[in-house]
Amino acid sequence: MATYIILLGPPGVGKGTQAEILAEQTGLAHVSTGELFREHIKNKTELGILANYFMHKGELVPDDVTIAMVKDRIMRPDCEAGVVLDGFPRTPVQADAANSMLNEIGAKVDVVPYITAPKEVIVERLSSRWTCRESGHIFNVAFNPPLKVGVCDFDGSELYQRDDDKAETVQKRIQVYLDRTSPLIEYYRTVGILHEIRGDQEIEQVTKELLDALKK
Ligand code: AP5
Ligand code: MG
Repeated sequence: MATYIILLGPPGVGKGTQAEILAEQTGLAHVSTGELFREHIKNKTELGILANYFMHKGELVPDDVTIAMVKDRIMRPDCEAGVVLDGFPRTPVQADAANSMLNEIGAKVDVVPYITAPKEVIVERLSSRWTCRESGHIFNVAFNPPLKVGVCDFDGSELYQRDDDKAETVQKRIQVYLDRTSPLIEYYRTVGILHEIRGDQEIEQVTKELLDALKK
């Protein structure tokens, strides 16, 4: 039976970092909606042009196009064993869509780790994050530096600072998270599959607690 994990939590809390590690350790596919949109932007597709309009401002991309993109992605063969969803769902409408698309394939959301950290921590992390241009590997010049400045350890490509990591856009993203995504915390708590994990710990400790939550 395939496993579906939803990583919930504010911008910068470590969803992408942990999703990448979890995917590697569990054999599940890592599906990040933010990364998928950034790929479309890089390739200048129609969806990329639309997504960029919203992402640039720190707003959410409309539900219909986001849902269609995820549905297409999780049907691919590499998702057969299951998926770590990073950044989706982000609205109640997307949560309903996640339930329906998994229901269609006889699956369900198994566990929702909810990673938390104080606002000062996430603002600091985002201001020092550097991301790999080629495949989205995540570094931090203060907390998780690459071996060589400006170069990805994994594929040697250039590291860059995301356009939406500017201070004012980060504030907007946090507000959008509180307004539009945080209602999902209570929703998944009620379903009984929410596991709260403190994200303001060492990366390895957060991973350990995530793996423990998956075993339960
Ligand atoms: P997305 O790319 O998903 O951004 P986000 O949710 O704002 O989250 P981030 O990627 O900024 O943070 P993260 O939690 O992944 O943290 P990370 O691991 O990088 O979305 C971007 C935009 O796309 C959205 O604003 C929206 O416009 C659009 N979008 C995406 N999904 C959408 C959806 N479903 N619907 C509509 N629109 C959507 O870590 C951050 C930094 O901290 C890194 O530098 C890392 O090295 C460091 N770090 C991580 N863990 C630790 C630790 N334990 N200790 C110290 N440092 C750490
Ligand atoms: Mg991310």
